[in-house]
Amino acid sequence: MRNTAIAAVGPANMTPINHTTTPVNLADYAKLARERFTPALNALYNGGAGDEHTLRANAQAWQQLTLWPRVLRALRGGHTATTVAGRPMAHPIFLAPVALQRLAHPDGEVASALAAAAQGAGFVLSTQSSVPMEDIARLVLADTQRGPLWFQLYWQPDRAQNLTLVQRAEAAGFDALVLTVDAPVQGVRDQERRHPLPASTGVHAAHGTAAQPHTTDQHAYCAGLPALAPTWDDVAWLQAHTRLPLWLKGVLHPADALQAAQLGIAGLIVSNHGGRTLDTTPPTAVALPHIAAALNGTVPLLVDGGIRRGTDVLKACALGASGVLIGRPVAHALVAGGAQGVAHMIRLLRDELEMAMALAGIRQLSEAGADLLTHTPKQNIN
Ligand code: FNR
Repeated sequence: MRNTAIAAVGPANMTPINHTTTPVNLADYAKLARERFTPALNALYNGGAGDEHTLRANAQAWQQLTLWPRVLRALRGGHTATTVAGRPMAHPIFLAPVALQRLAHPDGEVASALAAAAQGAGFVLSTQSSVPMEDIARLVLADTQRGPLWFQLYWQPDRAQNLTLVQRAEAAGFDALVLTVDAPVQGVRDQERRHPLPASTGVHAAHGTAAQPHTTDQHAYCAGLPALAPTWDDVAWLQAHTRLPLWLKGVLHPADALQAAQLGIAGLIVSNHGGRTLDTTPPTAVALPHIAAALNGTVPLLVDGGIRRGTDVLKACALGASGVLIGRPVAHALVAGGAQGVAHMIRLLRDELEMAMALAGIRQLSEAGADLLTHTPKQNIN
């Protein structure tokens, strides 16, 4: 399967995708998914918070950046290979943590993790995984071509619970921890409130954890939910209690990025949770260059939110990210074609990146800089 574009076929219990409907881009997977999701799953996987301004703006902001391609450059030996926090990868794509993936496909996180490994993509397993972390690690770790395998932590109400999860992730062989910091309470998700999941889906959070606390009609703030949310002290405590590199996911403000840098954080994921938490935040394509400027290369950066095209990945790298994560496309490809669908979807995005690089005159991602997004001839005139 590696390095080969494969046709996505549905598992036996789903309508197979025939050649006329084989997706050729991530939007095709999204369309297929919309046809297959129930209203509740559509609300979960495609909805956002509030009036969904941030959800829409994430995708739009990448398109509002224009590429200024260079021509006649030598492209021989070009490739998508890169390093993220010192670790070589075949390309800069990660699958973002997405909760309860067995809702989208019976194989759930087993399918997406295997697909990521087969395509050399990074994989971030959610605290809210529907498959135990040990099972995922066992399946993936032996693959020598796999990308990084990280465990995402939603802070649990007491430190002992966090320690248990962290020690399980260490023992299982995960490469890093990702603490999600942008969801002290759940966002106001109107679509999910209109179309709630049925009381019993048969799919459970395998680690026995609560999702980020829900807002309720009883005024979550006054009910004290945010008092359970992590603080900078907890980040420092976590660093002191794990041997794994600790990343923070959900940072938008450069001042927070600087504070994280002072703590010696391993890396930051510039993210607004795909527009699922606070509505009307800056889209990540807007926040990323501010954070990159503040940190000046001292801390590795990843970014997610609305990344659907190879050109989006190239722009993210030009703005200072070492790589990108994709969230909803994982659910779309899962429901469309299980592991094969996810592997195919990753391959499509990587192929698009490769073509975008060649067409922009970029031989390797380290050459992608701000001049790719403006016509100011600050460099490369020789
Ligand atoms: C998420 N996301 C998320 N993030 C996280 O840190 N832990 C989690 O368990 C989840 N779960 C989750 C479920 C669903 C249904 C969605 C859509 C998203 C956020 C995710 O990791 C990522 O930040 C965004 O999805 C990125 O935006 P795009 O690519 O979906 O636009």
